[in-house]
Amino acid sequence: MPSFNTIEWKENTVVMIDQTRLPGEESYVECKTYEDVADAIKRMVIRGAPAIGVAAGMGIALGAISLRTTKRDEFTAEVKRIAGVILGTRPTAVNLAWAVKRMLGILDAAEGDVEQLKSRLVGEARYILEEDIDTCKRIGQTGAGLIRDNSIVLTHCNAGALATGGYGTALGVIRAAVEGGKKIEVIATETRPFLQGARLTAWELDRDGIPVSLITDNMVGHIMSKGMVDAVVVGADRIARNGDVANKIGTYTISVLAKSHNIPFYVAAPMSTIDFDCPGGDSIPIEERSPGEVTHISGIRIAPEVNVYNPAFDITPNENISAIITEKGIVVKPFAVNLLKLRE
Ligand code: MRU
Repeated sequence: MPSFNTIEWKENTVVMIDQTRLPGEESYVECKTYEDVADAIKRMVIRGAPAIGVAAGMGIALGAISLRTTKRDEFTAEVKRIAGVILGTRPTAVNLAWAVKRMLGILDAAEGDVEQLKSRLVGEARYILEEDIDTCKRIGQTGAGLIRDNSIVLTHCNAGALATGGYGTALGVIRAAVEGGKKIEVIATETRPFLQGARLTAWELDRDGIPVSLITDNMVGHIMSKGMVDAVVVGADRIARNGDVANKIGTYTISVLAKSHNIPFYVAAPMSTIDFDCPGGDSIPIEERSPGEVTHISGIRIAPEVNVYNPAFDITPNENISAIITEKGIVVKPFAVNLLKLRE
């Protein structure tokens, strides 16, 4: 396990490592209200699909315990309103909606008075975190067999401990392979514009003693053409039921390059990232973030005031994906059939 906590429930507050300050500073943000949590998700103090799912659950629990009413119907209505605020923070990662739905399920199912409901909601939020760590370990163990000893694995963005409850999906696979005695080197793309690869993946792997080399995003083709990449492993923010994958902007480009160089391209994600209601990539909402993320680096302007596109995610079509690694097993084509089988 990594040597830091991404997020934890501590004495009725939610404490999260501030991912906007890494790698320069390891500091922690204490969220005392659900608004603090919503703000932390929006500002990407916490980010990564499973991690924002955990944060969403904890945010709702924080909001619930602050309510004064003792009337169950008033309590339920207010928790639903809070859940709506949390749901509106980021659109693409389906784990957020998945966690909200799970928390609201407690309201419908649990017996008892408001105090009992509060403790059930806190318990569920804490359980989502524990479960996520366990799920990631299982993803890791499942996927580690796909990674050869003495190989070089390229990853994009951060799908590590920082993006989850604390072990990682794509980096969980790498971590499990390393823990199993394999010698693995990681190539991390810097991941413009938010630099999750440079700031977070490089930090987390280096800190855990896993060899990592950093490249800029536009070096991927060259590095692949030189035979320097044996496999690509990335995470996912939402997987449609046909196997199309939304992940950090740039993932699609890497998948095209991997296909053209005959390099296996793996997606590692928990079942909670699969949106069975979503038919294909075209139906996945893509978050558009502020132009300032593109025109500025660390507050310094690097471009004139021109029009900017800043889609935070892209869609990798299922035909570019060699396999999807989940905690329930490895899924291969045809994804539309095999993902459904895994759900049963
Ligand atoms: O915008 P972010 O940093 O939340 O995007 C994160 C990613 O795209 C990750 O690759 C994805 O959530 C998988 S995390 C296990």
